[in-house]
Amino acid sequence: MVKREIKIGIIGFGTVGASAIRIMRDNAHKVETRAGAKITVKYIADKDITTERKVSVDKNILTTDAMKLINDPEIDIIVELIGGVEPAHKFIIEALKKGKHVVTANKAVLAKYWEEVMDTAKENNVAIYLEASVGAGIPVIQSLHDGLAANNIKSIYGIVNGTTNYMLTRMLEDKKDYAEVLKDAQKLGYAEADPSYDVDGMDAANKLVILSSIAFDAVVDLKDVYVEGISNITRKDMLEAKSLGYVIKLLAIAKDCGNGQYDVRVHPTLIPADHQMASIDDVYNGIFIVGDASGPIMLYGQGAGGDSAASAVVSDIIYICRNIVNGVAGKVPSVFFEKGADKAKIRNIDEIDFRYYLKFTALDQPGVLASIAAVLGNNGISISSVVQREQDEGKKVPVIITTDKAREKSMRAAIAEIDAMPTVKSKTLVIRIEKGE
Ligand SMILES: NC(=O)c1ccc[n+]([C@@H]2O[C@H](COP(=O)([O-])OP(=O)(O)OC[C@H]3O[C@@H](n4cnc5c(N)ncnc54)[C@H](OP(=O)(O)O)[C@@H]3O)[C@@H](O)[C@H]2O)c1
Repeated sequence: MVKREIKIGIIGFGTVGASAIRIMRDNAHKVETRAGAKITVKYIADKDITTERKVSVDKNILTTDAMKLINDPEIDIIVELIGGVEPAHKFIIEALKKGKHVVTANKAVLAKYWEEVMDTAKENNVAIYLEASVGAGIPVIQSLHDGLAANNIKSIYGIVNGTTNYMLTRMLEDKKDYAEVLKDAQKLGYAEADPSYDVDGMDAANKLVILSSIAFDAVVDLKDVYVEGISNITRKDMLEAKSLGYVIKLLAIAKDCGNGQYDVRVHPTLIPADHQMASIDDVYNGIFIVGDASGPIMLYGQGAGGDSAASAVVSDIIYICRNIVNGVAGKVPSVFFEKGADKAKIRNIDEIDFRYYLKFTALDQPGVLASIAAVLGNNGISISSVVQREQDEGKKVPVIITTDKAREKSMRAAIAEIDAMPTVKSKTLVIRIEKGE
């Protein structure tokens, strides 16, 4: 039987774009069998069409004009792989309005414009697929959307940023401090010259918006997500956590709190050393999902890299082709929820209870520990364990306290009071503890 030909246009001939073309070429038989169609790349748009890429292509299909692809009536699928917010956002919206199905790997656009992108796809009866936007080749989007479709998702714990996971792992394993592991990450190409998007937690927050919006069938607004990065974490904290039976990870956490409220946040977290997430090291990503029927599920793999991301992009192209062949593309629920979905009510972090790891740096003199304990007690915070280390330089001692569950706003009030005490010499480090259930 002669297969139907489906024409696609790729915007962005960089790392992922080139890998996607190579995979479609190398695995053509498998890809086209699964797609039920012959897939032809009609055009590739990039700002630079002269530099040699990882794959060679017919020069006649290269263009610098992305709109040429979007306006081409023969093209059914636009694959957006340029990254950044603009003009990627404009290209995605224009393509959907022109009746094209869209595949994108762009977490920044999706986190910022989730509602607009989904509503535009729905209004135009076209599909938007976004598997590579979180965890690259790890099939977490399909898992949440389809594989776990029968479940109410109770919680998600994600290690979704490889840069910070590499840095935290190396601090512990290589006995190096933050500045050194950051330099190593930059040398290896895992961190940008300006690493703030990764180390401040924003990359993880963007990905969490996507995961939680799909998991909870509601629009999670990036502005409602509490975000804290890893720049205050030292190698000593990693070691202290280890001695207490924990590992520190930058976790992207989303929980259904009941009553239509959700808890969605990104911050360094102590998790038990025997939890599955604790063994996800270096640049690897992992997502631990608890469904009410499925129970806990863990996905693990390379959360970055051209081939890994392109694996997800090509799989999205295959899904859309199959649906085009079956006459249902844009009609089956490939759009992640109904148009006009509710905004998710995100609980303010001040109203959430946590166990805490606290590191105080105080003068080594009688009564200091008792005064810290008194402030915690006055704020209704009970202590679970205390470790007082030997004097640091300048007669200061680090005091590590773990607490029982306490309300975040009480903890903030207590820490403000403690940090103002003349015997307390540095800002107290506060890290939340999670069991990961
Ligand atoms: N690489 C990964 O490991 C990975 C993993 C998961 C998801 N992703 C996502 O995949 C997407 C692509 O990433 P990538 O690593 O392939 O990026 P990349 O290597 O920088 O490639 C992007 C390409 O698009 C070009 N471009 C930028 N603006 C354009 C425009 N207006 N019109 C035409 N071409 C334009 C760029 O040209 P210039 O270089 O000249 O600007 C570059 O050649 C991003 O959304 C990224 O977040 C990447």
